[in-house]
Amino acid sequence: MAKKTAWAGRPKAAGRASAKKKRVAKRPVAKTAKKSATKKPVRKAAAKAAAPEPVTILDYVRLAATRLKRAHVAFAHGTTDPVAEAAFLVGEAMNLYPDEVEPRAAQRVPKAAGRRILDWLDQRIATRKPAAYLVNRMYMRGVPFYVDERVIVPRSFIGEILESHFGDDDVLRLRDPTKITRVLDLCTGSGCLAILAAHAFPNATVDAADLSANALAVAARNVREHGLEDRITLLQGNLLSAVGDRSYDLIISNPPYVDADGMASLPRECLAEPRMAFDGGADGIDLVRQIIDGARDHLRPGGGLLCEVGRCKSALERAYPRADFLWLDTEESEGEVFWIEAGAL
Ligand SMILES: C[S@@+](CC[C@H](N)C(=O)[O-])C[C@H]1O[C@@H](n2cnc3c(N)ncnc32)[C@H](O)[C@@H]1O
Repeated sequence: MAKKTAWAGRPKAAGRASAKKKRVAKRPVAKTAKKSATKKPVRKAAAKAAAPEPVTILDYVRLAATRLKRAHVAFAHGTTDPVAEAAFLVGEAMNLYPDEVEPRAAQRVPKAAGRRILDWLDQRIATRKPAAYLVNRMYMRGVPFYVDERVIVPRSFIGEILESHFGDDDVLRLRDPTKITRVLDLCTGSGCLAILAAHAFPNATVDAADLSANALAVAARNVREHGLEDRITLLQGNLLSAVGDRSYDLIISNPPYVDADGMASLPRECLAEPRMAFDGGADGIDLVRQIIDGARDHLRPGGGLLCEVGRCKSALERAYPRADFLWLDTEESEGEVFWIEAGAL
């Protein structure tokens, strides 16, 4: 999941200001029929005058955040709130990385970029499509990935864990990243985790597998755009059958894990994403079970499996009461990703 975008200029006074305007407009000016007939247009004109054209990046972020908030869109696709999503859209229109947007708040937005922002906003609100599909991009850990409706929008918590638990800066280091030479990203989708793994493990080659030919076409584009064709191999097939008899130091997977209740109540935004990226069967762990049961045959001694399961922690612990799962928390998740050593499988 993308890091929460900081934005200092939150439009905190927007609601209060408009309430104040309404109170002033409600004052009884005159009671004649003639005057009350002109009341509406006058009010409209006054409202227009009070809403100046957006000019700067800050203006557009404020305007976009206010509209997104009012429209009650769902934020589950790499941005976590209206301001972060507004900043993301404005950044894309201005060709800025997410962390470059806030420092340039005072910069003027060219007319064409302003029109693009307003158009994306209209589409976002009318169609409820995730913003990432409108701009064909999403960032994970600051790294850009091409996305379209053929793949789920990247937002896995595993991206953060690849940095925090294998890098130098964490109390719990699962493995020395330089000693990991073979990695499998199972259920790769856009290839985002395979690409982050290639960055995190400089001496590793990575296999990235998915059942969906559509997803693999997007992954191929991302692998090419990141110049990693010599380190990442794409494989098509049903879960571990895609890898033949290959074995790995590390298997990472963000498989489909939404249970039947969750599938019945997906937010509209998620309906634009491939259903097969979510559907984990009645209790959500149909595919996770197959991954756990098969992983032992594909892990080298000393290897491990890192797997995201969303809200399925209890279902999993019921299904494997003796398994030694280590649950890893991230900035925005608790008990949604487990690590298990090859020897404990
Ligand atoms: C939750 S998405 C994760 C995508 C990507 N790893 C990410 O984090 O953004 C799950 C992926 O599993 C793939 N998938 C679904 N069923 C599969 C199966 N039986 N075998 C392999 N991949 C499958 C879907 O096509 C989808 O790309």
